[in-house]
Amino acid sequence: MTNNKIYFIANWKMNAYSSLINRLNKVINLSKKKKFKKAGIIYCPPFTLLEQFVKISKRGNIDVGAQDCFYESGFGPYTGNVSTKMIKLTGARYIILGHSEKRTIGDNNNIINKKIKSSINEKLKIIFCIGESYKEKKQKKTYQVIKNQIIHGLKNIKKYNDIIIAYEPVWSIGTGLMPKNYEIFQKIDFIKTILRKKFKFNTPKVIYGGSVNSKNINNLKKIKNVDGFLIGGASLNQNKFIDIVKKTII
Ligand code: PGA
Repeated sequence: MTNNKIYFIANWKMNAYSSLINRLNKVINLSKKKKFKKAGIIYCPPFTLLEQFVKISKRGNIDVGAQDCFYESGFGPYTGNVSTKMIKLTGARYIILGHSEKRTIGDNNNIINKKIKSSINEKLKIIFCIGESYKEKKQKKTYQVIKNQIIHGLKNIKKYNDIIIAYEPVWSIGTGLMPKNYEIFQKIDFIKTILRKKFKFNTPKVIYGGSVNSKNINNLKKIKNVDGFLIGGASLNQNKFIDIVKKTII
C-alpha cells in the first residue's frame, strides 16, 4: 500500500433494493473510528438508490458514487438516460466510468472521454476503469491496451486531479482469477508514469479491482504502489467488506 488515503470502493453493480441499505450500518460505525480515518470508503449503488445512500452516508465518514452516466450533459430528450448533472443533484460525489461491463455493451474510448468531460464539468470525482481482456493478455498486448485506454479516455484533459484509475484486468472480474502481485505492481507503475508525464497529475492514484475478497486482501495489500481496491461481489456482504478494510488498515 502507499502511505496516502486508501480507497475501498464498493461497486454494487445491478444489485440492490431499499432494505439492503441496512447493510451499511456496521460500515458507517467503522468509518467513524479514528483508526480508519485514512480509509476512503465509497459506495456505488445503482441510480435508484443514490439519494438514499447519500442521506445515510452523512451519518458516517463514507462517500457515494454512481456507476455510470449518459454522455450528454444537463437535461434533455434522452429517454432512459441519467446525466452527470442529475447525479450531482442526488448529492453523490463520485462516478465510476469505463467499467468493462459497460465497455462490452458499447462504451468505447470516445464515449468514455465524453462522459469523463461531463463529469469534470459537474466536479464529480472519477473512478476511471481500464484493463485488458484475457485474449489481449495472451497476445501480450496489455501495456498497449491500457495505454490506449488512458490516452483516449483522457484526451484533452490536463491536471484534473480528482481522477482515480482502477486497473481491472477483465479476466479477473468476478472470476476468482488474479494476476500475481508483481504483475499488478508493474501495471500500476506504468499507469502512474503515464499520468505524471503525459497528463501532469501530481499525485496519480491507482487502485486494483478484480476478485478482491477478505481472503486475498492480506496478500494484495503488500503491493507497494496500490492506492486501494475496487470491490464488486465481496462488497455486497457487509462483514466481508469490513474484513477487507480491517485487514488492510491495521
Ligand atoms: P469483483 O468485481 O470484485 O466481483 O471481481 C470488481 C468490479 O467489477 O469492479
